[in-house]
Amino acid sequence: MPYENSLEFAQQCDANDSLKSFRDRFYIPQHNGKDCVYLVGNSLGLQPKSTRSFVEQELTDWQNLGVEGHFDQSATRPWFHYHKFLKPYLADLAGAKELEVVSMNSLTTNLHLMMVSFYQPTAKRYKIITEAGAFPSDQYALETQINFHANRGGERLFDPKDALIELQPRTGEETLRTEDILATIEKHQDELALVMMAGVQYYTGQLFDIAAITKKGHDCGALVGFDLAHAFGNVPLQLHEDGVDFAVWCSYKYLNSGPGSVSGVFVHERHSRNPDLPRFAGWWGHDESQRFQMRKGFIPMEGADAWQLSNVNVLPSAAHLASLEIFGEAGIQALRKKSVFLTGYMEFLLNELNADEEKIQIITPQDPNQRGAQLSLCVSHGGKELFNKLSANGVLADWREPNVIRVAAVPMYNSYVDVWNFVNLLGSLL
Ligand SMILES: Cc1ncc(COP(=O)(O)O)c(C=O)c1O
Repeated sequence: MPYENSLEFAQQCDANDSLKSFRDRFYIPQHNGKDCVYLVGNSLGLQPKSTRSFVEQELTDWQNLGVEGHFDQSATRPWFHYHKFLKPYLADLAGAKELEVVSMNSLTTNLHLMMVSFYQPTAKRYKIITEAGAFPSDQYALETQINFHANRGGERLFDPKDALIELQPRTGEETLRTEDILATIEKHQDELALVMMAGVQYYTGQLFDIAAITKKGHDCGALVGFDLAHAFGNVPLQLHEDGVDFAVWCSYKYLNSGPGSVSGVFVHERHSRNPDLPRFAGWWGHDESQRFQMRKGFIPMEGADAWQLSNVNVLPSAAHLASLEIFGEAGIQALRKKSVFLTGYMEFLLNELNADEEKIQIITPQDPNQRGAQLSLCVSHGGKELFNKLSANGVLADWREPNVIRVAAVPMYNSYVDVWNFVNLLGSLL
């Protein structure tokens, strides 16, 4: 269906949207008594109306059962097993087996835990490939992991200065070409230990070709991991089939599970039966059937569960479960189908604004297969002022230094009229 630049067209799309009822399942922040245009679900997703009852359920069990809430038959969801209630949904979103996923900790913590196991540099094979401008927390994790290993035991294993290879776009381009990513992996194949990249890049919104990167990394003798903070719940994933070694994500962006809520990890089944993998362990990763025997000697659980350190963060996990149930109802394939059309509509309207002269540059790839819900808009002059004016008028976007406004039309709760209102306001401000 061709797009049209009119409010009536946007209203018609909303009327025809098979997912439209999901918007009512969320609280939309208000501006002057009306719904904001909330385009920052890529930063902090909205609160499902069901979250409170899921959290209250656990508060009630705690109130009534105290410590017995861990196992008691009368607990709604006994806390000892709480992480398991989330697994079917996470497996579905990750394209994984249930044993390959678990929710725990926070994202950066999990990235370090994964690197303890999957970044095992030697004097010859020690390099890591990542995208230039990776999210700072990932940069710090990679940098400190490299430094940690470079001088192990007081002896220099390798030079940390050339251990990190950062993929740069070609001159005059904003995003990476898959062919260049693959060529760089191949070029460094004799020294490469790990390819560790974003699934969707936080700044540009580029969705990388996870399958191709993983295959090339493996062909070149490296392990391959992804930070899926901006991909999980945004685009369908098939981590098992793609053969990814490990992945980490957070649940507070597209997964709508609340600020700082619990993170998730994927570890491919092929690693789950390897008890010799180095890891930092805790009692919740220890064989569940013997956990309370309190004995020496770590026996890993099968699968991703072996990486758990601590007993479950039940209250944030309850918020997570509330949201995941909604994903289960909506279905990631249906969400993606709407997302492609909705983001395409935003792009179409922005291009109309640019018809006479380019006022806004969209740096996110035009190809829907290379992006999720986010578009990154580069504003050469006065971008911050423009962003502030959008906020003052009830359009919540986000600003990323030095000159990008990020907007994400989230198919779960954003409407076509949201998108139309945003671009219409932007046009008047420009
Ligand atoms: C791509 C990416 N990686 C890592 C992080 C850090 O997450 P956390 O603070 O949950 O460790 C974020 C946070 O927004 C992110 O967007």
